[in-house]
Amino acid sequence: MPHFQHILKVSCVLLSPGRPPPWGRSGGGAGVAQGAGAGGVVRVSTGIRGLDEALEGGVPRGSWVAVTGEPGTGKSVLCMHFAWAGLNAGDPVVYVTTEAEFRDVVRQAKMFGMEFDRFKAYDIAGRAEPGETPNIVVVDIFGLLKIARQLSESQEEHGGEAARRRWFTALDVGTLTAAVHEAYRMLGVLREEKARTPYKHVRLVIDSISAFWADKPVMARKYSYDLKIALHRENVTAYLVSQYAMTTKSTFGFGLEHIADGVLHLWMDDVESSKEVRRHMIVKKMRMTNHARTAFKLDITPGKGAELAPIKT
Ligand SMILES: Nc1ncnc2c1ncn2[C@@H]1O[C@H](COP(=O)(O)OP(=O)(O)O)[C@@H](O)[C@H]1O
Ligand SMILES: [Mg+2]
Repeated sequence: MPHFQHILKVSCVLLSPGRPPPWGRSGGGAGVAQGAGAGGVVRVSTGIRGLDEALEGGVPRGSWVAVTGEPGTGKSVLCMHFAWAGLNAGDPVVYVTTEAEFRDVVRQAKMFGMEFDRFKAYDIAGRAEPGETPNIVVVDIFGLLKIARQLSESQEEHGGEAARRRWFTALDVGTLTAAVHEAYRMLGVLREEKARTPYKHVRLVIDSISAFWADKPVMARKYSYDLKIALHRENVTAYLVSQYAMTTKSTFGFGLEHIADGVLHLWMDDVESSKEVRRHMIVKKMRMTNHARTAFKLDITPGKGAELAPIKT
């Protein structure tokens, strides 16, 4: 398999055990440590203190969490907090971004006190094999295009007539799963090349998953299942962003929420009547968790990012 790693940033911060987590010092949200909580469930910090508290300490490890909402409600910011908390906890991170280039994600996160460029990031679209193990592997649309091309070429070389007719596209569930497995390999979390399950805990962000079935919404449920079979692993805790269609207020094809272990739903009040952006979030579902059942106000502020507050009545 050809390799296509590329150094985005070479600077690296090694976390020393006694060092306070960055969210405790300078914004970037808040987080609680990962660890076994009630019922022996291992909790993974969301990087947002209020959300961790609403979830009895965090997301149960190995969960698939759908993050749903309309544009501008804060879904991508939530993903940044989740990835940032992971980096600071020493978790390898796979960050799939179909909406923005990763450098824009880094720039946006910086405004909230999350300095992603202090960690080693590799772009799957690059050419060079990483010299040392990266902390985060980035898959954007260029990386997906590259994987799609390679999948198509390898089928041409080895496949029969049917395989030859199969042309992979960038926004294809098969391309996505191949890209994620390549990212696992680059992160050094597979014991052998063919292994599918990471032997250590990995955080996976896919922002957004809707992009992979936007042109065929009726397939959302099938694709969600395909994806779950291919990627759902006990050592992988994932955020999957699902966009709401503005007009119908429904997610594309109602696929993901049905198979997700958790749903974090975000919305904003009707701006025409409220005449301001008022964001809210509710934990609609979280397996193995006696989670908060009322909505929170969600504020996004410079230097801090997303913060939850109780709704004043
Ligand atoms: N530096 C900043 N300070 C405060 N708020 C910001 C800043 N940058 C972006 N935002 C807010 O975050 C919003 C984007 O949130 P985002 O997570 O990208 O939404 P979604 O992914 O749901 O479309 C912007 O519309 C803006 O209101
Ligand atoms: Mg977004």
